[in-house]
Amino acid sequence: MSEAESGPGRGEEDSPVTEKVDAVPARLIKEERRSSSADTVGTGGDHVELFSICYSGKTLRLPTSQPHMYQVIYRILKQVYLPLVPQILVGLPKGWTEVILDHNQVAECAKKYNMAAKPYAKNWGGSYNTDTLKEWGHPQCTFRVARDIVNFAYECAVPRPSDLNNHYKSFSSETYGETNLEQMASIIDELRLGPSDVFVDLGSGIGQLVCFTSAYTKIKKAVGIELSPLPAGHAVDLSNYFKKIMAHFGKNCGKFELIEGDFLNPKFKKLITEEATVIFINNYAFGPDLMFNITNELLQELKHGTRIVTTKPFGSNKREITYRSTSDITAMSDTVQMRSVEHCVSWTANKVDFWLTTMDHTKLIKYYEDELHKKKQQREGSEAVEQHREHGNKKRKTERDSNGHKIKFCGNSA
Ligand SMILES: C[S@@+](CC[C@H](N)C(=O)[O-])C[C@H]1O[C@@H](n2cnc3c(N)ncnc32)[C@H](O)[C@@H]1O
Repeated sequence: MSEAESGPGRGEEDSPVTEKVDAVPARLIKEERRSSSADTVGTGGDHVELFSICYSGKTLRLPTSQPHMYQVIYRILKQVYLPLVPQILVGLPKGWTEVILDHNQVAECAKKYNMAAKPYAKNWGGSYNTDTLKEWGHPQCTFRVARDIVNFAYECAVPRPSDLNNHYKSFSSETYGETNLEQMASIIDELRLGPSDVFVDLGSGIGQLVCFTSAYTKIKKAVGIELSPLPAGHAVDLSNYFKKIMAHFGKNCGKFELIEGDFLNPKFKKLITEEATVIFINNYAFGPDLMFNITNELLQELKHGTRIVTTKPFGSNKREITYRSTSDITAMSDTVQMRSVEHCVSWTANKVDFWLTTMDHTKLIKYYEDELHKKKQQREGSEAVEQHREHGNKKRKTERDSNGHKIKFCGNSA
């Protein structure tokens, strides 16, 4: 039974559920294509499948035990393949894009597409084909391709998104809400994430930002940690479908991991404090206790230069460091507002602000140096006063009148 037929399994708590997705060698693809016979194209009984026409692309098989998969197949045909290769879809029923198709009709469309795609897949199987397939024919995802692939995977993994919103009572730290992918791309572009970056989403929900980041960037690693079992379970499914769909389009994908667990658990400390270079925390609904733990424990140990993106700022930059505030996160970081796009989150149509806090240990070093300097100046000042006083005393003791008698300054017998 194939992975798609058996359905993606759930991971153990706190266990990594995904691994690096390597491009599939072209030789394997060809063998796989050869083994699919024309009379089983489209549906294989308990799955519906689509041939790939991309270099290194794999046949996509989605389980028909979950009826919403037909919708995803239909959308891939309509949204990706129709604009790129309309000639492959001419055999489909007239007006198929304008009406709502039932499952049998979608399966029939997939079958017709597969039959027509076969020779193209053979012809185009030897190299990347950006002339015809444009950005879909390139091994690296553009924003649009990464977004569409994550959205297809989301549709496969989360048939009823409303379940996520209704699962927890509003305004608890586990309140669910999503940052959209346009906003995530804006953050990635603004921070210029590169090959030495490790991105960590603390409270990663269903993991769509982690998957998107691994597709859109060439960073070292992306990791998400999610506490609540419902979104964490969907994250397992989402990452599995994401890998399948990336493989279908022959796309390169960076290393990523989605973990079910509490990010305050000490076992994540090394990842957060030593490895992470960019941390994302959608803390909009986090309660004061959780925020206290984040700012007073977790973030205190971050490396100099670590960047943290949040939906609520940690504090004001304008506050001067005082003796009492030296253990405050603002004493060792700088916060600025980031760009935010329209409709950047799922829970409100209003614009939500995004904040960038950069760990800056030099601020605290400078504070202590200034304090030392002040103390030194004070000490030198009081020493100078003391010296001055002593000098005055000596002088008074030795001063004499014009007859050579000592002048007495004290008492009233002068
Ligand atoms: C608003 S959602 C954000 C999801 C995702 N990062 C995004 O922006 O699309 C915040 C998530 O943080 C999770 N969370 C809260 N406390 C957590 C903890 N201590 N450890 C891991 N996840 C936590 C919640 O369960 C919730 O799913």
